[in-house]
Amino acid sequence: MGTDRTSDGFSTRAIHAGQDADPATGATVVPIYATSTFTQESPGQHKGYEYSRSGNPTRAALETALAALEGGERALAFASGLAATTAVLSTLKPGDEVAAAADLYGGTFRLLERVFKPWGLVPRYTEETGVEGFAAIVTPATRLVWIETPTNPLLQILDIAAIARLAHDRGAVLAVDNTFASPYLQTPIALGADLVVHSTTKYLGGHSDVIGGAVIGRRDLLDPIAFYQNAAGGVPGPFDSWLVLRGIKTLAVRMERHCANARALAQWLVEQPQVERVYYPGLPDHPNHEVARRQMRDFGGMISVRLKGGAAAAQRMLTRTRLFSLAESLGGVESLIGHPATMTHASIPAAIRAARGVDDGLVRLSVGIEDVEDLREDLDQAIS
Ligand SMILES: Cc1ncc(COP(=O)(O)O)c(C=O)c1O
Repeated sequence: MGTDRTSDGFSTRAIHAGQDADPATGATVVPIYATSTFTQESPGQHKGYEYSRSGNPTRAALETALAALEGGERALAFASGLAATTAVLSTLKPGDEVAAAADLYGGTFRLLERVFKPWGLVPRYTEETGVEGFAAIVTPATRLVWIETPTNPLLQILDIAAIARLAHDRGAVLAVDNTFASPYLQTPIALGADLVVHSTTKYLGGHSDVIGGAVIGRRDLLDPIAFYQNAAGGVPGPFDSWLVLRGIKTLAVRMERHCANARALAQWLVEQPQVERVYYPGLPDHPNHEVARRQMRDFGGMISVRLKGGAAAAQRMLTRTRLFSLAESLGGVESLIGHPATMTHASIPAAIRAARGVDDGLVRLSVGIEDVEDLREDLDQAIS
């Protein structure tokens, strides 16, 4: 629905792509088409919509906007980020291999290990952030390379262009979970990726009030996923689609504040005597800082931190913040603090987590857009 405005700037696309005035009423803002079905003039004669699992105008507007923001030919919206990931993995066959970076959202790891592995998919993981790690685990049976960057929760940065070249040389497709960066900070398709996946629950929705997901990419790759979307049915309702659509209008200004606040807090945390290590790709000594500078517009709103007092100090910090809410998720206007080991990454077995550094001493911050002085004061009193 609506024009895609591919030649316009990012903020213009965020506000206008797919969001022309409503053809039926002139409504300036895309309406919430709360209908399960559409009346036909005669059997098979309709205005482009038949049944809301197959297509709904509010969802179609969101899909057009998402494709325009990521620079993809087509986008498909799903009921959650994991439903979007499931749709991509469902296009593979038993015996196909997936090469993935080890630092992954816990739910994605669980989906690979406990749903798709028993079904016949063969996941392989690399601990290395460089392209050599992927070169070692990609085999002739690898159909899909799956990465997040920045990764969750260690904020590693992976070189999208280099990994895309490797995947293509070996006949595989590269999918990038772009949830942590958002299309404002990084557009993987422009760097050579074939598919982009989002949990729209996060920065795209931006207000912690909706669960959603999306897949964006080339039409030939999206067509089988569109078939799956309709056949399996994990679609977002019109109200959820509308909430994400409303969220993305302000994505650019929100991301600028998220990044500015996170940069200031990361620089401050580094100087605190209680802090052992700060994981933030914007810090010049971050091991992947140069790659981040090359492929991202800014360094994002997520920080992980390790305190010198280990697990006990982490527990104290987690229970003492007043502005940072102790809650799962990220990417909303309000700041959140989380404990990956027991929250977002609890679905990864403890031994595997600990070996990767996702242990009880690690704390993850989703830096919101509040006044940065208030956020700093809150962290200060929590670690003091
Ligand atoms: C990087 C990343 N990908 C995917 C997901 C899954 O998204 P959802 O919770 O919307 O299913 C999450 C959720 O935290 C995430 O952080």
